[in-house]
Amino acid sequence: MRLEYIYPSALLAPLALGCGPHPDHAASLDIPNLITANNLARLNGTTLHKKIALNNVRVFDGTCILPPSTIVIDGPFIGTDATGAEHVDGKGGVLLPGLIDAHCHPTNITHMQELAKWGVTSAFVMACFSQELCSSLSNHTGLPSVLRSSVPASAPGSAHGNISIAATRDPSILINGTGAVPGWINRQLAGQDLDYFKLVAEAPGLDQATLNLLVSEAHHHGKQSVTHAATFEAYTQATLSRTDHVHHAPLDTVIPLALAHKMLQQGQMSTPTLTMMRAIALAGTSTAGANFTAALATTSLLHKSGVTMLAGTDANLQPGVPAMVPFGSSLHDELQNLVDAGMSPLEALLAATVKPARAFGLWDRGTIQAGMRADLVLVGGDPLADIGNTRDIKRVWIGGVEVGRGQ
Ligand SMILES: *[C@@H]1O[C@H](CO)[C@@H](O)[C@H](O)[C@H]1NC(C)=O
Ligand SMILES: *[C@@H]1O[C@H](CO)[C@@H](O)[C@H](O)[C@H]1NC(C)=O
Ligand SMILES: *[C@@H]1O[C@H](CO)[C@@H](O)[C@H](O)[C@H]1NC(C)=O
Ligand SMILES: *[C@@H]1O[C@H](CO)[C@@H](O)[C@H](O)[C@H]1NC(C)=O
Ligand SMILES: *[C@@H]1O[C@H](CO)[C@@H](O)[C@H](O)[C@H]1NC(C)=O
Ligand SMILES: *[C@@H]1O[C@H](CO)[C@@H](O)[C@H](O)[C@H]1NC(C)=O
Ligand SMILES: [Zn+2]
Repeated sequence: MRLEYIYPSALLAPLALGCGPHPDHAASLDIPNLITANNLARLNGTTLHKKIALNNVRVFDGTCILPPSTIVIDGPFIGTDATGAEHVDGKGGVLLPGLIDAHCHPTNITHMQELAKWGVTSAFVMACFSQELCSSLSNHTGLPSVLRSSVPASAPGSAHGNISIAATRDPSILINGTGAVPGWINRQLAGQDLDYFKLVAEAPGLDQATLNLLVSEAHHHGKQSVTHAATFEAYTQATLSRTDHVHHAPLDTVIPLALAHKMLQQGQMSTPTLTMMRAIALAGTSTAGANFTAALATTSLLHKSGVTMLAGTDANLQPGVPAMVPFGSSLHDELQNLVDAGMSPLEALLAATVKPARAFGLWDRGTIQAGMRADLVLVGGDPLADIGNTRDIKRVWIGGVEVGRGQ
């Protein structure tokens, strides 16, 4: 079975700006074979855990870079006792908590390995059309943790609704008005390990009342909601719905200060995915009117207003879409984009480590402390002096397993 499949976010500009999807944007993805291949690549319980004393590393503690010290990796966690540990020389490198990509679309093990290689140790997969596919990427030794979304909530006749139908051939996964919300929510939750709901604000699309109800039902079930919004109109809808996270940044115009203040007041967070917004604007032809400068200015405004900013890339390598974004290296692009939008290198680093961890209640990661997961990235230079130094990756550990060694 081959399913016609398109990444929604990759299509957001042509759809959002009214150019309409082109037939050649549809690319097929063989979901059943991906699931099989991903599951076969599991290391079948092989334990690669060790006790390592990582000497001579300068730890980033969330505020500054500390003088050289030793960090103990004890199995999957950061430990305290170096007795019996294998000694590894960190050579004075800077040790960062594993990076978190708050918005990406891996579908196979190569994508996961790329994320890992670039120091991304947790990945928020933003469109689980197939829960089995998202499961097949989860719990791989030495690869990033996967945080899983629902099927994206969208309306019949909408651009994203059409994408969901193409992916699943199942019209009943769409939401036609508020009456359909409780049933849809229950179906998403049934037997599934989802971490948060993904909602789509777009025109034509879900109306305000439906978005509002989706958010309140998600909260009622103890889950957060993440809402796609790539135009000013959609951004306004998402903000009014009180969704927890607004993803992307409008490519049509800068949002007014009052909307940024409303987001702050309502405790909403922004993941602007500037890397994707830039890629769409650069893609040209199919994206007439996409103004990256506006997306950057909105990001700047949100940050200055005090809204919590998270780093996400929208990484995907789906052929035929207007903007592909590579896995892993793109998170370093996003850090640079956030700095270009006026954040300090320190703020950008926090947006890719402790902030997403805290935002999603992942209390076992985001900082380097005893008892936390040993998700660690050793880089050569000081990223607080130049954010570009995060690219100078020397070694990466995920859950205490070193990436690219022994696998
Ligand atoms: C894991 O086990 C399955 C069968 O249980 C096997 O087909 C697969 O090749 C194994 N994977 C690895 C990486 O050894
Ligand atoms: C994963 O997909 C990429 C294209 O995005 C391809 O180059 C790569 O070979 C695939 N990996 C596997 C294991 O199928
Ligand atoms: C991954 O592992 C966790 C913890 O062992 C477990 O709760 C979860 O169900 C697993 N998820 C998948 C998709 O295998
Ligand atoms: C979705 O598909 C339907 C049926 O093909 C079409 O009428 C509608 O215009 C599409 N919606 C968008 C926004 O492209
Ligand atoms: C959505 O509901 C309206 C009535 O509320 C109905 O007229 C319309 O046909 C429904 N659309 C679909 C695709 O089910
Ligand atoms: C893009 O947005 C910027 C910032 O708002 C604005 O100054 C510029 O005029 C816009 N460009 C176009 C072509 O609309
Ligand atoms: Zn996306």
